[in-house]
Amino acid sequence: MKIVLLSSNSKLYSSKRIVEEAKKKGHDIRVINPARCYMDITSDKPMVYFAKKKLNKIDAIIPRISQALTFYGMSVVRQFEAMGVYCANTADSIGRSRDKLLSLQLLAKQGLPLPRTSFASSTRQTEDLIKLVGGAPLVVKLLQGTQGKGVILGETHKASESLIDAFRELEANFLVQEFIKEAKGSDLRCFVVGDKVVASMMRVAKEGEFRSNIHRGATGVKVKITPEEREISVKAAKIMGLRIAGVDIMRSASGPKIIEINSSPGLEGIEGATKLNVAGKIIDFLEKKK
Ligand SMILES: Nc1ncnc2c1ncn2[C@@H]1O[C@H](COP(=O)(O)OP(=O)(O)O)[C@@H](O)[C@H]1O
Ligand SMILES: [Mg+2]
Repeated sequence: MKIVLLSSNSKLYSSKRIVEEAKKKGHDIRVINPARCYMDITSDKPMVYFAKKKLNKIDAIIPRISQALTFYGMSVVRQFEAMGVYCANTADSIGRSRDKLLSLQLLAKQGLPLPRTSFASSTRQTEDLIKLVGGAPLVVKLLQGTQGKGVILGETHKASESLIDAFRELEANFLVQEFIKEAKGSDLRCFVVGDKVVASMMRVAKEGEFRSNIHRGATGVKVKITPEEREISVKAAKIMGLRIAGVDIMRSASGPKIIEINSSPGLEGIEGATKLNVAGKIIDFLEKKK
């Protein structure tokens, strides 16, 4: 197969591993920075160009679009779709998973377990927003945040009120969520490829931190997930339309709760923690699809 890995950095662990596994299986693979692609969007012969050359005769693309490039990256993926190229994740599915509010609404509609979450835009409803999630402590999340950066803990009622009012003042879009204290700064990362969880790890936050993002210093350890956790991970990816996804789940006192779904889950943490060849599973999946 001729595969294009859409990524802004060919030196990242995830990019290198996907290239390595694709080559090992005899495929022709190139890493292309989506920011440097340009397109002919006319309907009779849609095309993506890179460095004055047509990117045609491609069998499959693996999009790994960075948060900063979401808008443009999605348009490049959409263009490959218009050319009839198989996309490991579609532009729509990437867009859905990048919007935390939309994701939660889609998952809630299908009855998947989520932390209690509220959202509003009027300044007068702060008290009710807090009440809806069961009071403080709670977390306030910026809708477009990533790597834990937009997630803040409101420990007391007073602090939560101030936080919500401050975000409003900044006209930021955020949601308010019940704080799952009992997970003690850990969550599960379930790596979904196709309709299977191919690897899973528990991420444990560093001392004094409640966010278990690897970028916030958390460590990944191998974990055995329950059949229920496996089932909701696969369902969640399916609802988002993602074929490759990192589904994050917290173990709460009332069962597993989905926190978020990533369309470009990193490979370094999960391969390191599980010693599994996750990059190879992605290539195997593409082989079956093509
Ligand atoms: N409701 C919650 N209760 C407790 N911890 C949470 C909650 N939501 C998020 N966290 C912690 O914060 C981390 C980052 O939150 P997340 O919603 O995944 O945002 P990001 O996109 O920035 O990773 C999670 O991995 C988890 O450890
Ligand atoms: Mg996260």
